[in-house]
Amino acid sequence: MNDFRKISCMFIVYFIKGTYAILSLMTKIAILSDLHGNMPAIEKVLADLKTRQIERVFCLGDLASGPLWPRETIELLMQKDWVFVRGNHDRNLVERAPEKLGDSDAYAYKQFDRKHLDWLATLPATLEIENTFLLCHGSPTKDTTYLLESIENGRVRLSTPEEIKPKLNGIRLPILLCGHSHTPRMVTLESGLTIINPGSVGLPAYEDASDGYFVVECGSPHARYAVIEKTMEGWKTEIVLLPYDHELAAAQAHKNKRPDYEIGLRTGFMRGDSIPIYG
Ligand SMILES: [Fe+2]
Ligand SMILES: [Fe+2]
Repeated sequence: MNDFRKISCMFIVYFIKGTYAILSLMTKIAILSDLHGNMPAIEKVLADLKTRQIERVFCLGDLASGPLWPRETIELLMQKDWVFVRGNHDRNLVERAPEKLGDSDAYAYKQFDRKHLDWLATLPATLEIENTFLLCHGSPTKDTTYLLESIENGRVRLSTPEEIKPKLNGIRLPILLCGHSHTPRMVTLESGLTIINPGSVGLPAYEDASDGYFVVECGSPHARYAVIEKTMEGWKTEIVLLPYDHELAAAQAHKNKRPDYEIGLRTGFMRGDSIPIYG
């Protein structure tokens, strides 16, 4: 090979390597969680994803449970080539006896066929991706743990680093993606670990009686998700809040006799303990 061909080959190799490096730096990932069967919200998010050159979607569970459109949601999600982990509600649907399901899961269960449950049963509890991301629903060890929130005076607040650290199970990957609290946040710990919760696509407020009564309220009816993108300076993170036809979702909750979902979907707030507790 003469010198000119050698230099040409080297140039091509460096060009390909450089292009690949730039492209990998530009990778845009959408993070979705807690869809809870809210089809109008999901459709709005899907339309938004199309405008953003998203290459990958990570979905963190609680997919279809609730008094909205569980069957339509699961049918849609089963066709997606997204990366999924399961949420506590997804786990309930495949592990609990039907008569022991709470109201939200029971509504979904009645609309599901065997194939829907079989698909849910394939979803992992956690997933490591490319030595960079750990995906989970609650915490790395428990899908019902509020990783970034502590309950105080009947509502959730941002936890301190000291409260968060014991729940991490010694994670060694740089980015932890979690859901469950429906509260969008990004937290960076002293160790360099970044934790991102994208909030909830389908349910901006709810009440919980699992650990004493408390409410989670995001304060507006928007659908929420996150987009992360690697840049030279680090991970650029955008929490996206999308207006959508939330009255349609609230009307569906009303039709299915769930005043808690109805008020949460309509306003992003709860009325407190005047609403009966649902499972
Ligand atoms: Fe959820
Ligand atoms: Fe959850």
